[in-house]
Amino acid sequence: MTEFTGNHILSVNQFDRDAIEKVFSVAHSMEPYARREKRTTVLNGAILGNLFFEPSTRTRVSFGTAFNLLGGEVRETTGMDNSALAKGESLFDTARVLSGYSDIIAMRHPAAGSVSEFAEGSRVPVINGGDGANEHPTQALLDLFTIKRELNYHGAGIDGLHIAMIGDLRYGRTVHSLSRLLCLFKNIRFTLISPAELAMPQPIVDAIKDAGHQLTITDQLEGNMDADICYQTRIQEERFPSQEEANRYRGKFRLNQAIYTRHFQSKTVIMHPLPRDSRMEANELDIDLNVNPNLAIFRQTDNGVLVRMALFALTLGVEDLVSKYERDVVWHSNKSS
Ligand code: CP
Repeated sequence: MTEFTGNHILSVNQFDRDAIEKVFSVAHSMEPYARREKRTTVLNGAILGNLFFEPSTRTRVSFGTAFNLLGGEVRETTGMDNSALAKGESLFDTARVLSGYSDIIAMRHPAAGSVSEFAEGSRVPVINGGDGANEHPTQALLDLFTIKRELNYHGAGIDGLHIAMIGDLRYGRTVHSLSRLLCLFKNIRFTLISPAELAMPQPIVDAIKDAGHQLTITDQLEGNMDADICYQTRIQEERFPSQEEANRYRGKFRLNQAIYTRHFQSKTVIMHPLPRDSRMEANELDIDLNVNPNLAIFRQTDNGVLVRMALFALTLGVEDLVSKYERDVVWHSNKSS
Protein backbone atom coordinates (compact mmCIF):
# COMPACT_ATOMS: atom_id res chain seq x y z
CA MET A 1 0.00 0.00 0.00
CA THR A 2 1.07 3.60 -0.62
CA GLU A 3 3.20 5.01 2.25
CA PHE A 4 1.74 8.42 2.91
CA THR A 5 3.92 9.93 5.63
CA GLY A 6 6.48 12.36 4.25
CA ASN A 7 5.66 11.61 0.60
CA HIS A 8 4.41 13.75 -2.26
CA ILE A 9 0.96 13.19 -3.77
CA LEU A 10 1.47 13.94 -7.45
CA SER A 11 -0.57 11.41 -9.40
CA VAL A 12 -3.44 8.98 -8.97
CA ASN A 13 -1.02 6.32 -10.23
CA GLN A 14 0.41 6.25 -6.68
CA PHE A 15 -2.83 4.80 -5.30
CA ASP A 16 -4.05 1.24 -5.00
CA ARG A 17 -7.42 0.20 -3.57
CA ASP A 18 -6.05 -0.17 -0.03
CA ALA A 19 -4.63 3.35 -0.15
CA ILE A 20 -7.93 4.72 -1.42
CA GLU A 21 -9.82 2.96 1.38
CA LYS A 22 -7.35 4.41 3.92
CA VAL A 23 -7.95 7.95 2.61
CA PHE A 24 -11.73 7.40 2.69
CA SER A 25 -11.68 6.02 6.21
CA VAL A 26 -9.62 8.98 7.52
CA ALA A 27 -11.81 11.40 5.52
CA HIS A 28 -14.90 9.94 7.15
CA SER A 29 -13.37 10.45 10.62
CA MET A 30 -12.89 14.17 9.80
CA GLU A 31 -16.61 14.83 9.58
CA PRO A 32 -17.16 16.13 13.17
CA TYR A 33 -14.38 18.71 12.65
CA ALA A 34 -15.59 19.82 9.21
CA ARG A 35 -19.13 20.12 10.59
CA ARG A 36 -17.76 22.15 13.53
CA GLU A 37 -19.19 19.76 16.11
CA LYS A 38 -15.61 19.45 17.46
CA ARG A 39 -12.32 21.10 16.62
CA THR A 40 -8.79 19.79 16.69
CA THR A 41 -5.39 21.46 17.06
CA VAL A 42 -3.35 18.48 15.90
CA LEU A 43 -1.44 20.61 13.34
CA ASN A 44 -0.92 23.57 15.69
CA GLY A 45 2.24 25.35 14.50
CA ALA A 46 2.39 23.64 11.10
CA ILE A 47 2.42 25.79 7.94
CA LEU A 48 0.84 24.99 4.57
CA GLY A 49 2.34 26.76 1.55
CA ASN A 50 -0.69 27.09 -0.74
CA LEU A 51 0.69 27.98 -4.16
CA PHE A 52 -1.83 28.59 -6.91
CA PHE A 53 -0.30 29.79 -10.17
CA GLU A 54 -3.62 29.29 -12.01
CA PRO A 55 -7.16 30.43 -11.05
CA SER A 56 -9.02 28.35 -8.48
CA THR A 57 -11.87 28.75 -6.03
CA ARG A 58 -12.61 25.34 -4.52
CA THR A 59 -9.26 23.61 -4.59
CA ARG A 60 -7.30 26.54 -3.16
CA VAL A 61 -9.81 27.48 -0.50
CA SER A 62 -10.63 23.90 0.52
CA PHE A 63 -6.92 23.05 0.88
CA GLY A 64 -6.58 26.10 3.14
CA THR A 65 -9.78 25.33 5.03
CA ALA A 66 -8.77 21.70 5.54
CA PHE A 67 -5.41 22.77 6.97
CA ASN A 68 -7.03 25.37 9.24
CA LEU A 69 -9.56 22.79 10.46
CA LEU A 70 -6.64 20.64 11.59
CA GLY A 71 -5.21 23.59 13.52
CA GLY A 72 -2.50 24.64 11.04
CA GLU A 73 -1.63 27.98 9.41
CA VAL A 74 -1.86 28.79 5.70
CA ARG A 75 0.49 31.01 3.61
CA GLU A 76 -0.80 31.70 0.11
CA THR A 77 0.77 32.69 -3.17
CA THR A 78 -1.74 33.28 -5.95
CA GLY A 79 -1.04 34.10 -9.58
CA MET A 80 2.18 33.81 -11.56
CA ASP A 81 2.61 37.61 -11.67
CA ASN A 82 2.85 37.79 -7.88
CA SER A 83 5.79 35.39 -7.67
CA ALA A 84 9.39 35.46 -8.83
CA LEU A 85 8.47 32.87 -11.48
CA ALA A 86 7.51 35.97 -13.48
CA LYS A 87 11.19 37.08 -13.22
CA GLY A 88 12.46 33.80 -14.65
CA GLU A 89 13.07 31.89 -11.41
CA SER A 90 12.93 28.12 -11.97
CA LEU A 91 10.39 25.80 -10.35
CA PHE A 92 13.31 24.02 -8.66
CA ASP A 93 14.61 27.21 -7.00
CA THR A 94 11.10 28.31 -6.04
CA ALA A 95 10.52 24.92 -4.42
CA ARG A 96 13.86 24.99 -2.61
CA VAL A 97 13.00 28.40 -1.12
CA LEU A 98 9.32 27.94 -0.29
CA SER A 99 9.80 24.48 1.21
CA GLY A 100 12.05 26.20 3.75
CA TYR A 101 9.04 28.22 4.89
CA SER A 102 6.45 25.41 5.00
CA ASP A 103 5.79 21.93 6.40
CA ILE A 104 3.78 20.90 3.35
CA ILE A 105 2.89 22.50 0.02
CA ALA A 106 -0.22 22.34 -2.17
CA MET A 107 0.32 23.60 -5.69
CA ARG A 108 -1.50 24.30 -8.95
CA HIS A 109 0.26 25.33 -12.14
CA PRO A 110 -0.89 25.61 -15.79
CA ALA A 111 1.85 23.35 -17.22
CA ALA A 112 1.53 19.55 -17.32
CA GLY A 113 4.32 17.97 -15.24
CA SER A 114 5.14 21.24 -13.44
CA VAL A 115 4.10 20.07 -9.97
CA SER A 116 6.35 16.99 -10.24
CA GLU A 117 9.21 19.22 -11.42
CA PHE A 118 8.60 21.50 -8.43
CA ALA A 119 8.50 18.50 -6.06
CA GLU A 120 12.04 17.56 -7.12
CA GLY A 121 13.28 20.76 -5.50
CA SER A 122 11.06 20.60 -2.44
CA ARG A 123 12.23 19.54 1.01
CA VAL A 124 8.65 18.94 2.20
CA PRO A 125 5.74 16.92 0.74
CA VAL A 126 3.99 18.47 -2.25
CA ILE A 127 0.33 17.81 -3.16
CA ASN A 128 -0.75 18.32 -6.77
CA GLY A 129 -3.73 20.69 -6.97
CA GLY A 130 -3.84 20.39 -10.79
CA ASP A 131 -1.07 20.56 -13.40
CA GLY A 132 -2.35 21.79 -16.74
CA ALA A 133 -4.48 19.26 -18.62
CA ASN A 134 -2.60 16.41 -16.96
CA GLU A 135 -3.91 15.44 -13.51
CA HIS A 136 -5.98 16.58 -10.55
CA PRO A 137 -5.52 13.71 -8.07
CA THR A 138 -7.23 15.24 -5.04
CA GLN A 139 -10.30 16.08 -7.15
CA ALA A 140 -10.39 12.45 -8.37
CA LEU A 141 -10.24 11.20 -4.78
CA LEU A 142 -13.06 13.50 -3.66
CA ASP A 143 -15.08 12.53 -6.75
CA LEU A 144 -14.62 8.84 -5.97
CA PHE A 145 -15.45 9.44 -2.29
CA THR A 146 -18.65 11.19 -3.46
CA ILE A 147 -19.49 8.37 -5.88
CA LYS A 148 -19.06 5.83 -3.08
CA ARG A 149 -21.33 7.79 -0.72
CA GLU A 150 -23.98 8.50 -3.34
CA LEU A 151 -24.09 4.89 -4.51
CA ASN A 152 -24.15 3.58 -0.93
CA TYR A 153 -27.28 5.67 -0.49
CA HIS A 154 -28.84 3.63 -3.34
CA GLY A 155 -27.47 0.34 -1.91
CA ALA A 156 -24.73 -0.07 -4.55
CA GLY A 157 -20.92 0.02 -4.62
CA ILE A 158 -18.29 1.29 -7.04
CA ASP A 159 -17.62 -2.14 -8.63
CA GLY A 160 -20.12 -2.58 -11.50
CA LEU A 161 -20.71 1.17 -11.82
CA HIS A 162 -21.83 2.76 -15.12
CA ILE A 163 -20.46 6.28 -15.51
CA ALA A 164 -21.20 8.67 -18.37
CA MET A 165 -18.54 11.38 -18.80
CA ILE A 166 -19.65 14.32 -20.92
CA GLY A 167 -18.02 17.34 -22.54
CA ASP A 168 -14.36 18.28 -22.77
CA LEU A 169 -12.67 14.97 -22.06
CA ARG A 170 -9.48 16.04 -23.84
CA TYR A 171 -8.44 18.94 -21.62
CA GLY A 172 -10.51 18.09 -18.50
CA ARG A 173 -7.89 16.80 -16.09
CA THR A 174 -10.48 15.69 -13.53
CA VAL A 175 -11.88 13.03 -15.87
CA HIS A 176 -8.35 11.85 -16.66
CA SER A 177 -7.54 11.26 -12.98
CA LEU A 178 -10.97 9.84 -12.12
CA SER A 179 -10.85 7.37 -15.04
CA ARG A 180 -7.46 6.12 -13.91
CA LEU A 181 -8.71 5.61 -10.34
CA LEU A 182 -11.79 3.74 -11.62
CA CYS A 183 -9.43 1.37 -13.47
CA LEU A 184 -8.61 -0.07 -10.02
CA PHE A 185 -12.21 -1.27 -9.63
CA LYS A 186 -14.13 -4.13 -11.27
CA ASN A 187 -16.61 -4.24 -14.18
CA ILE A 188 -16.90 -0.49 -14.73
CA ARG A 189 -18.89 0.71 -17.75
CA PHE A 190 -17.61 3.95 -19.24
CA THR A 191 -19.71 5.95 -21.72
CA LEU A 192 -17.55 8.80 -23.02
CA ILE A 193 -19.53 11.53 -24.76
CA SER A 194 -17.67 14.38 -26.45
CA PRO A 195 -17.03 15.95 -29.83
CA ALA A 196 -14.37 13.81 -31.60
CA GLU A 197 -11.88 16.68 -31.27
CA LEU A 198 -12.33 16.70 -27.46
CA ALA A 199 -12.18 12.93 -26.95
CA MET A 200 -10.49 11.25 -23.99
CA PRO A 201 -6.70 10.97 -24.60
CA GLN A 202 -5.64 7.60 -26.03
CA PRO A 203 -3.41 6.55 -23.05
CA ILE A 204 -6.45 6.76 -20.77
CA VAL A 205 -8.68 4.92 -23.25
CA ASP A 206 -5.98 2.22 -23.39
CA ALA A 207 -5.84 2.04 -19.57
CA ILE A 208 -9.63 1.56 -19.45
CA LYS A 209 -9.43 -1.22 -22.04
CA ASP A 210 -6.41 -2.86 -20.36
CA ALA A 211 -8.37 -2.97 -17.08
CA GLY A 212 -11.05 -4.99 -18.94
CA HIS A 213 -13.79 -2.39 -18.53
CA GLN A 214 -16.64 -1.81 -21.00
CA LEU A 215 -16.20 1.32 -23.07
CA THR A 216 -18.56 3.20 -25.38
CA ILE A 217 -17.29 6.31 -27.17
CA THR A 218 -19.85 8.57 -28.84
CA ASP A 219 -20.32 12.19 -29.87
CA GLN A 220 -23.93 12.51 -28.73
CA LEU A 221 -26.37 11.81 -25.93
CA GLU A 222 -28.66 9.04 -27.19
CA GLY A 223 -31.64 7.22 -25.67
CA ASN A 224 -31.80 6.36 -21.98
CA MET A 225 -28.30 5.27 -21.14
CA ASP A 226 -28.87 3.57 -17.82
CA ALA A 227 -25.94 5.37 -16.15
CA ASP A 228 -25.47 5.48 -12.36
CA ILE A 229 -23.37 8.64 -12.60
CA CYS A 230 -23.56 11.48 -15.10
CA TYR A 231 -20.26 13.41 -14.84
CA GLN A 232 -20.55 16.68 -16.72
CA THR A 233 -17.50 18.87 -17.48
CA ARG A 234 -16.75 22.41 -18.60
CA ILE A 235 -15.11 23.34 -21.92
CA GLN A 236 -11.60 24.13 -20.62
CA GLU A 237 -11.29 27.32 -22.67
CA GLU A 238 -7.99 28.27 -21.01
CA ARG A 239 -6.31 25.25 -22.66
CA PHE A 240 -7.53 25.88 -26.21
CA PRO A 241 -5.21 27.51 -28.76
CA SER A 242 -7.82 30.27 -29.25
CA GLN A 243 -11.14 31.49 -27.86
CA GLU A 244 -12.70 31.02 -31.32
CA GLU A 245 -11.93 27.30 -31.13
CA ALA A 246 -13.35 27.00 -27.59
CA ASN A 247 -16.50 28.85 -28.75
CA ARG A 248 -17.10 26.11 -31.32
CA TYR A 249 -17.82 23.59 -28.54
CA ARG A 250 -19.39 25.81 -25.89
CA GLY A 251 -23.01 24.84 -25.22
CA LYS A 252 -22.75 21.61 -27.24
CA PHE A 253 -23.66 19.38 -24.29
CA ARG A 254 -26.08 21.28 -22.09
CA LEU A 255 -27.75 19.41 -19.27
CA ASN A 256 -31.05 20.56 -17.84
CA GLN A 257 -33.94 18.73 -16.17
CA ALA A 258 -35.68 17.91 -19.49
CA ILE A 259 -32.50 16.48 -21.05
CA TYR A 260 -31.73 14.61 -17.81
CA THR A 261 -35.22 13.03 -17.80
CA ARG A 262 -34.82 11.97 -21.43
CA HIS A 263 -31.38 10.36 -21.11
CA PHE A 264 -30.90 9.26 -17.52
CA GLN A 265 -32.56 7.19 -14.81
CA SER A 266 -34.55 8.99 -12.13
CA LYS A 267 -31.79 8.05 -9.64
CA THR A 268 -28.74 8.95 -11.80
CA VAL A 269 -26.35 11.05 -9.73
CA ILE A 270 -25.27 14.30 -11.40
CA MET A 271 -21.69 15.36 -10.79
CA HIS A 272 -19.44 18.15 -12.07
CA PRO A 273 -16.01 19.15 -10.73
CA LEU A 274 -17.08 22.82 -10.97
CA PRO A 275 -16.89 25.61 -11.81
CA ARG A 276 -19.92 25.13 -14.08
CA ASP A 277 -20.02 27.65 -16.88
CA SER A 278 -23.37 29.35 -16.29
CA ARG A 279 -23.04 31.91 -19.10
CA MET A 280 -26.00 31.70 -21.48
CA GLU A 281 -23.93 30.46 -24.40
CA ALA A 282 -22.59 27.53 -22.31
CA ASN A 283 -25.11 26.74 -19.56
CA GLU A 284 -23.71 23.23 -19.26
CA LEU A 285 -25.57 22.45 -16.01
CA ASP A 286 -28.79 24.44 -15.86
CA ILE A 287 -29.92 25.94 -12.57
CA ASP A 288 -33.26 24.10 -12.98
CA LEU A 289 -31.29 21.06 -11.76
CA ASN A 290 -30.58 22.81 -8.43
CA VAL A 291 -33.72 21.30 -6.93
CA ASN A 292 -32.99 17.81 -8.26
CA PRO A 293 -31.96 15.74 -5.19
CA ASN A 294 -29.52 13.77 -7.37
CA LEU A 295 -27.46 16.90 -8.06
CA ALA A 296 -24.34 16.08 -5.99
CA ILE A 297 -22.14 19.04 -6.98
CA PHE A 298 -22.23 20.77 -3.60
CA ARG A 299 -21.83 17.49 -1.75
CA GLN A 300 -18.68 17.05 -3.89
CA THR A 301 -17.31 20.41 -2.74
CA ASP A 302 -18.06 19.62 0.91
CA ASN A 303 -16.43 16.21 0.53
CA GLY A 304 -13.33 17.94 -0.87
CA VAL A 305 -12.59 19.36 2.58
CA LEU A 306 -12.84 15.91 4.21
CA VAL A 307 -10.57 14.29 1.63
CA ARG A 308 -7.98 17.08 1.79
CA MET A 309 -7.99 16.96 5.60
CA ALA A 310 -7.34 13.21 5.32
CA LEU A 311 -4.46 13.72 2.88
CA PHE A 312 -2.82 16.32 5.14
CA ALA A 313 -3.23 14.11 8.23
CA LEU A 314 -1.80 11.06 6.44
CA THR A 315 1.07 12.92 4.78
CA LEU A 316 2.09 14.58 8.04
CA GLY A 317 1.63 11.32 9.99
CA VAL A 318 -1.00 12.53 12.48
CA GLU A 319 -4.06 10.53 11.35
CA ASP A 320 -4.17 8.64 14.68
CA LEU A 321 -3.64 11.77 16.83
CA VAL A 322 -6.48 13.97 15.57
CA SER A 323 -8.97 13.11 18.33
CA LYS A 324 -6.26 13.35 21.03
CA TYR A 325 -6.00 17.07 20.27
CA GLU A 326 -9.77 17.54 20.20
CA ARG A 327 -11.54 20.57 21.73
CA ASP A 328 -15.16 21.62 22.13
CA VAL A 329 -16.63 24.20 19.77
CA VAL A 330 -17.81 27.10 21.92
CA TRP A 331 -19.52 29.24 19.30
CA HIS A 332 -22.88 28.73 17.59
CA SER A 333 -22.44 26.86 14.34
CA ASN A 334 -25.15 26.02 11.81
CA LYS A 335 -22.89 23.44 10.21
CA SER A 336 -23.68 20.80 12.80
CA SER A 337 -27.42 20.88 12.00
N1 CP B 1 -12.74 21.63 -9.24
C1 CP B 1 -11.80 22.59 -9.24
O1 CP B 1 -10.61 22.30 -9.42
O2 CP B 1 -12.26 23.84 -9.00
P1 CP B 1 -11.35 25.16 -8.88
O3 CP B 1 -10.75 25.40 -10.23
O4 CP B 1 -12.26 26.24 -8.41
O5 CP B 1 -10.27 24.84 -7.87
